[in-house]
Amino acid sequence: MNFLPQKNERNHKLFLMKAIVSHDYGNYQNVKLVTDFAKPSSATVPKKKIIVKTKAVALAPGDARVLSGKCKALQGPPSFPYIPGGDLCGVITDMNGVDPKSVGYNVGDRVAARFTEGPRGALGEYAVISTEMTGKVPENVTSEEAAALASSATVALCLSRKISAKERVLVIGARGGVGSHLVQFLRLKGVEYIAGVSREPETLLKEPLSCNDAIDYTKKDIYDFQSWKEISVIQKFDTIVDLSGGGYLRLLEQSRMPNRNAHMIIKTVSEGGRFLTMTPDNPLFEINGIWGALKLFLFTSLFRAMNTRLLKRTSMPSYSYVMALDNDLEIMAETLQLASEKKLKACIDDRGPFEFTTDGAQQAFKLKESRHMRGKVVIKVSSGV
Ligand SMILES: NC(=O)c1ccc[n+]([C@@H]2O[C@H](COP(=O)([O-])OP(=O)(O)OC[C@H]3O[C@@H](n4cnc5c(N)ncnc54)[C@H](OP(=O)(O)O)[C@@H]3O)[C@@H](O)[C@H]2O)c1
Repeated sequence: MNFLPQKNERNHKLFLMKAIVSHDYGNYQNVKLVTDFAKPSSATVPKKKIIVKTKAVALAPGDARVLSGKCKALQGPPSFPYIPGGDLCGVITDMNGVDPKSVGYNVGDRVAARFTEGPRGALGEYAVISTEMTGKVPENVTSEEAAALASSATVALCLSRKISAKERVLVIGARGGVGSHLVQFLRLKGVEYIAGVSREPETLLKEPLSCNDAIDYTKKDIYDFQSWKEISVIQKFDTIVDLSGGGYLRLLEQSRMPNRNAHMIIKTVSEGGRFLTMTPDNPLFEINGIWGALKLFLFTSLFRAMNTRLLKRTSMPSYSYVMALDNDLEIMAETLQLASEKKLKACIDDRGPFEFTTDGAQQAFKLKESRHMRGKVVIKVSSGV
């Protein structure tokens, strides 16, 4: 259905575009460049959906998850072949019924957009975006930077608003897409002590993250206070932000140990300790339907939130599963503005930006699937700023 008959060369150019597609669920090897995908136009796209010429796309964990098919019951795609990728920077080619005055951008403007209808559709020469989480990109922010900031940095900004300057914070996954921007937002709001974990901990101590301390989780048990004492950390954390997954189960295990006080790295609820996460215990989770999603994201989270605040007040930090995907234009605008003012650096994995080719897309997806990126994995779709 996505392919149009190629009557002649002219038709090909007018109605077809290059896109990275996948014809089935699988892994990075499934993504391939095609040259005959139907180009979106105001004749085919529902009104109020803007069409952009794509400049750059940043991959998020959801893109690898959709491709894997592990959440097909909820996140689709509705049919194959589909175009993966959800977060992009592009130049508007058609406002398609959206009043420019109501949104502050128009045809010819460069915008950053976060997916609002599932992480799909970005990796084409042209893409369709909604106005819900879209912002005009300042001139001094490159398209690769804008794509990198569109999702993870806006999520990180929402998350940072839940943390106050006086807290001693540990970020697990500090070098990933969300973590590398979260640490910067925490610095900006004056959080005095930030520690991070990564298998390349030295990168966390350098700018732009400048964590106070960092530990390699492949060499030390980051959930044992002894590991932190070895690098002279003597106070327990007020807040853990777990962007990697599984931390709650480790803390629960420790809370049952007879000598838990000697080992716990975080304060309990009664001492003000908090555990914030955006990741299920298994980061490569599977969802088989609405019931599975409710169990994973709602019931388990509610149970843990209540259990830690009531029965486990003196042995565990409070548990909160943070849904930080609010569609909030002010958050997008603030993120882009901070980047323009050079207060926030878009963290882009230095193995990229990857090319808009089969090989480039496969390398990018392979890196994303590894869960070991230095910031965001970006694919450059077209040249220019
Ligand atoms: N748009 C978004 O980005 C978005 C939106 C909503 C929710 N989320 C959720 O937020 C979470 C973080 O997203 P992300 O894009 O930053 O990251 P991600 O790609 O899932 O995770 C990368 C981070 O996890 C760390 N990691 C991997 N295995 C680990 C282990 N065994 N122990 C400790 N750390 C480990 C990596 O550390 P190394 O430095 O060692 O490689 C890396 O920093 C994900 O669960 C995601 O689903 C993201």
